[in-house]
Amino acid sequence: MSSYDNKAINFYEPFVGGGIVGLTIAFEQLAKDITLVELDVDVASVWKTILSNDYKWLANKIVNFDLTQQSAERELNTIATSTRDQAFQTILRNRISHGGILAPGAGNLKYGEGGKGILSRWYPYTLFKRIYAIGEIQDRIRFIEGDGLDFIRLHLNQSNAVFFIDPPYTAGGKKAGSRLYTHYLIDHEELFNLASQIKGDFLMTYDNSNEVYELAKRYNFNIRMIAMNNTHHAQMTELLISNH
Ligand SMILES: C[S@@+](CC[C@H](N)C(=O)[O-])C[C@H]1O[C@@H](n2cnc3c(N)ncnc32)[C@H](O)[C@@H]1O
Repeated sequence: MSSYDNKAINFYEPFVGGGIVGLTIAFEQLAKDITLVELDVDVASVWKTILSNDYKWLANKIVNFDLTQQSAERELNTIATSTRDQAFQTILRNRISHGGILAPGAGNLKYGEGGKGILSRWYPYTLFKRIYAIGEIQDRIRFIEGDGLDFIRLHLNQSNAVFFIDPPYTAGGKKAGSRLYTHYLIDHEELFNLASQIKGDFLMTYDNSNEVYELAKRYNFNIRMIAMNNTHHAQMTELLISNH
């Protein structure tokens, strides 16, 4: 597609994570339909809760939680018995662990950042406001707990589709994805193969590695390098890859 009519676009984010792009599209009303897909059950529990009537419960639970190391440990050692409890535990774990890492194997939580302890990344009122803002526009967003590759396979024939594809970065021996995410193993070759069949538009972001660069060249995709800061504020480059 060369020019966009917002009212005609289906926007798809098959590896949504925190979904900054999909949320921006929703708030700015840049697409007719918005679908977000995520495989991780913990991340999915957050989307399912925020995009349901339980968003108010979650926002209130966050502002009313008296965060200390003891209260956090008590909460995280309790088995969640509902999706909304799991969502709260996921947000808590993300906000108090170093770098926001949710993947198992991060071992005992290393609390906070910059020596500032457990409260260093806990901004309950900001979270409250964000959750409310998203909850109020939930009608604009569809969430699917499932496999992003399967989702692309099912929707690649739509000419009015725009995909934002931000997979875990594990191609080319890069390990960032495996430290950060529970689901980090994806078939990158298959992802590129599917992307090459997308009739609409896609934009992919990847760690800059030779393997990904070669893969993108092999499929004749457009490639741009952009500078970004990672979790540790180090400068690195990322690849932006698209078909048009
Ligand atoms: C790089 S992150 C996306 C970050 C996102 N752009 C944001 O703004 O937060 C990749 C996400 O894909 C998820 N994921 C991994 N394998 C998946 C799969 N096969 N299908 C769907 N999601 C998957 C991971 O759990 C992770 O949340």
